[in-house]
Amino acid sequence: MDSSLVSKDTSWWVFTLPAFLGTQNLCDGFLLFSLFVAFVSAGLLTWAFAVGGIAWKSGRNSRGRVSIPGPRGLPVFGSLFTMSRGLAHRTLAKLASTRAGATQLMAFSLGSTPVVVSSEPQIAREILTSPHFADRPIKESARELMFSRAIGFAPNGTYWRLLRRISSSHLFAPKRIAAHEEGRQVDCNVMLSAILEEQRSSGVVGLRKHLQGAALNNIMGSVFGKRYDLAAKNNEELSELKEMVQEGFELLGAFNWSDFLPWLSYFYDPFHIKERCSALVPRVRKLVRGIIEEHKLVHGESGKLSDNADFVDVLLSLDGEEKLVENDMIAVLWEMIFRGTDTTALLTEWVMAELVLNPDVQAKLQNELDMVVGNKGTITDADVAKLPYLQAVVKETLRVHPPGPLLSWARLSTEDVQLSNGMLVPANTTAMVNMWAITHDSNVWEEPLAFKPERFLESAGGVNVDVRGNDLRLAPFGAGRRVCPGKNLGLVTVNLWVAKLVQQFKWVADQKNPVDLSELLKLSCEMKNPLSAVALPRDNVVVAL
Ligand code: HEM
Repeated sequence: MDSSLVSKDTSWWVFTLPAFLGTQNLCDGFLLFSLFVAFVSAGLLTWAFAVGGIAWKSGRNSRGRVSIPGPRGLPVFGSLFTMSRGLAHRTLAKLASTRAGATQLMAFSLGSTPVVVSSEPQIAREILTSPHFADRPIKESARELMFSRAIGFAPNGTYWRLLRRISSSHLFAPKRIAAHEEGRQVDCNVMLSAILEEQRSSGVVGLRKHLQGAALNNIMGSVFGKRYDLAAKNNEELSELKEMVQEGFELLGAFNWSDFLPWLSYFYDPFHIKERCSALVPRVRKLVRGIIEEHKLVHGESGKLSDNADFVDVLLSLDGEEKLVENDMIAVLWEMIFRGTDTTALLTEWVMAELVLNPDVQAKLQNELDMVVGNKGTITDADVAKLPYLQAVVKETLRVHPPGPLLSWARLSTEDVQLSNGMLVPANTTAMVNMWAITHDSNVWEEPLAFKPERFLESAGGVNVDVRGNDLRLAPFGAGRRVCPGKNLGLVTVNLWVAKLVQQFKWVADQKNPVDLSELLKLSCEMKNPLSAVALPRDNVVVAL
């Protein structure tokens, strides 16, 4: 018989329901109860046989030659409780280490969302560099906050490619980064003066607020061409900006259960995500629109760009098909403020915490600075290139404390992806890389828990690893076509600021608040207890602040 003539309709039984339910004696409590029990049992059986949890049902994890192992989690919720509390990178690393093959790739469920995570360099590279993993799943908060029109969450396509091209040939181009050096110097000098003042008045310095202020001003300078007097008490625009950035960080960093269980939003929304996003967006639009209007007044809508033009000037100067509508411009500009502020500030704080904990490393760094720069004054970006130990200290901090331990922003497969180890990741799977697990794996790094910058110094028998996405043993900026476009800007800023902080002061432990390396995972992984230290001005340094 022609097989196409055979009925494949498996839902015929639905049409029999009215007959059943209409039958008086059957439609009693017993029948309803039995149906309910049958339904729940079927659900539980499906879950019990689904390696990786309910989102991997029907053998979704075994479509390749090798099955993807993973924890079942709970019925309905999968591993949501595991991911929503505590330090997900550590929990996932532990889970992966207890199952054969799971460090290469582990499957788990977040509600109905199938997720894979890799904790091994080879498979991580295949995921990050695959063209079929060039999309990102978008969270409700990111969508509400307009980020689907910004670089980080725009789907892989013409619009995203246009944004990457504009940003890499302007904001992140080497000559533009060089042209903004003066701004980086100014912001750092203002920070050094504020640190000196706090040290004199309190005998101790809380570093984070200084770093966040400098990072915010720095990114505001290169993106909006605007800096604020951080010491001013009544600057309404600055307070509004800080508050908006803070609120945005919280919303984007919050673990939103309804991203994975959409029906839950009707009952449970502890963070009031939707409401808060709706309140924030008009404030962002007002502020950014105001700055765009100021630029239009000063420069007109187009014209030749100078090397140190800010990003608003760049976007306004675009013509033809490249021209962005105002709402898209606002989304792109706002995203830069977000991405550029916390990552650089938090990474610098981790570096300084390690330097306080490791006085011998700090002394070696000071020695390098004295030898190469002396006390001649201002350290420049050009000097940084001649300071291998400084660069090794920053790399070692990126290894021990990657700011995005799970690379912050996941990827989404758009097609089935066959991996070299025989596993197959089906289309529409969220993929993460556990960079923290890789950088703490003793098969990858010798003595992974020790803070040893020398491991990156060829002169000391180490290896000079490129951290910008070419070597997956240490890729804190991701890799592939969605690698962080701000990596060079971020590195230049952190290297310069650490050099200047250490040239100017000797950093000593605050006896009342010793350094605590506990982590808090939000949008980035930050120090749970912000760094407090004593900043002793170095006598032999003659730098005017
Ligand atoms: C220490 C500093 C920084 C770290 C550790 C960092 C880390 C990351 C990581 C891990 C990703 C995801 C990459 C991937 O999926 O492969 C990313 C994406 C991104 N970063 Fe950074 N970042 C830093 C600084 C910056 C700065 C300064 C900016 C801009 C001002 C920036 C803008 C972006 C953007 C726009 C994306 C999205 C790229 C896309 O999806 O196409 N980042 N970053």
